Amino acid sequence: MRSIASASIPSTRMRWRGTDEIRIDPNMTSPLKKVPVARVTRGMYVHKICGKWLDHPFWRGSFLVEDDETLATLRTLGNQEVWIDTAKGADLPPEAPPAPPPPAQADRRPEPPRSAFGMDYAAAEAVRERARIAVMALFQQARMGKALSMESAAEVVDEVNEAIARNPAAMLSVVRLKNKDDYTYLHSVAVAALMIALGKRLGYAGEALKQVGIAGLLHDIGKVGVADAVLNKPGRLSPLEMATVRQHPQIGWDILSRESAAGPMALDVCLNHHERTDGTGYPNRLSGDALSEIARMGAVCDVYDAITSDRSYKAGWEPAEAIRRMAEWQDGHFDRRIFHAFVKLIGIYPTGTLVQLASQRLAVVLVQGSGSALTPIVQLICTLPDRKPLEPEALDLEASDDSIVAIEDPAHWDLDIPALLRA
Ligand SMILES: [Fe+2]
Ligand SMILES: [Fe+2]
Repeated sequence: MRSIASASIPSTRMRWRGTDEIRIDPNMTSPLKKVPVARVTRGMYVHKICGKWLDHPFWRGSFLVEDDETLATLRTLGNQEVWIDTAKGADLPPEAPPAPPPPAQADRRPEPPRSAFGMDYAAAEAVRERARIAVMALFQQARMGKALSMESAAEVVDEVNEAIARNPAAMLSVVRLKNKDDYTYLHSVAVAALMIALGKRLGYAGEALKQVGIAGLLHDIGKVGVADAVLNKPGRLSPLEMATVRQHPQIGWDILSRESAAGPMALDVCLNHHERTDGTGYPNRLSGDALSEIARMGAVCDVYDAITSDRSYKAGWEPAEAIRRMAEWQDGHFDRRIFHAFVKLIGIYPTGTLVQLASQRLAVVLVQGSGSALTPIVQLICTLPDRKPLEPEALDLEASDDSIVAIEDPAHWDLDIPALLRA
């Protein structure tokens, strides 16, 4: 440490008055600026530290902030201020323009900060929307007999993959919600997301995982060959209509086989996602070893998303109900190992399930917990039966005496589940 006696002499443009005040000639445009320590950056010239500089670790009042070490030492001064000399060093960056005032609303209240889950949920909604638009364009290209923009399909898959890496529960619950008009497009996005999440569990990574996602995204591209009136028909299909619907895997395979960028997985899933392990599926009644792992994955993800979605001819089942029914069908329909991996992924009480707790409280499932599938992390909503609102606190049922006693239908409670999850 150098001697205090070597402290620099103050600038001639100033007179010292005490130790922490500087007077500046009002007729001059001074290069000196008083700034909080937190705004000092490398390259600035510190003319003087406000306060009793003898107390500071700096041996002299003026110095160039040359390196990170000096900056770090300066930052230890906390919320004190310094004078910087902009003639000898860097100036402050220009101030960002002030944010526009909020729109005047008499009853506007400050919005509470979003939870981390809420932010991931909102981000997942944005990904779903961009993906929906890209899938609509792909279907339109197929309808017109044009080449598919496979690059766009790959970009969608990358974005969905990132959203799943960030928060799988948020992305998978977002893609389940669809309106009836956009069913086919959103179903494609949902199957891509489910395939990616399941693929990761089964050990796919990198380029192979990307191909799994593209296979999910394009599995129903052959539906462009089936009339909308048939696809959206309420009620039972006639045998002829059913035969038309059953052509969509082959139509899709024909479309994708013209695309050099569509890999073998996309072709396989497109053709075989309606096959069943017992040989009762379509179009080729494949069974046993003739069905690849990727086709079996496609079958599970496709059925789950189809039965949990509202359609023109039926309301979707709650995810928990869907898993229960699929478990009943699994022998014959699905590959047992793949179905079990899928149940682990979705959970018995998937994200967004409305549940009644033993403590007479209503809650919504946020994410699967670290322990049993029966003990997810839930967010409290209200007391029962008097419906007194509760603080939206997250409760880990694994670490609680409380437990789920029933699944509730959100429609009976007039609750907007996405809004709850987004908060
Ligand atoms: Fe299909
Ligand atoms: Fe499908």
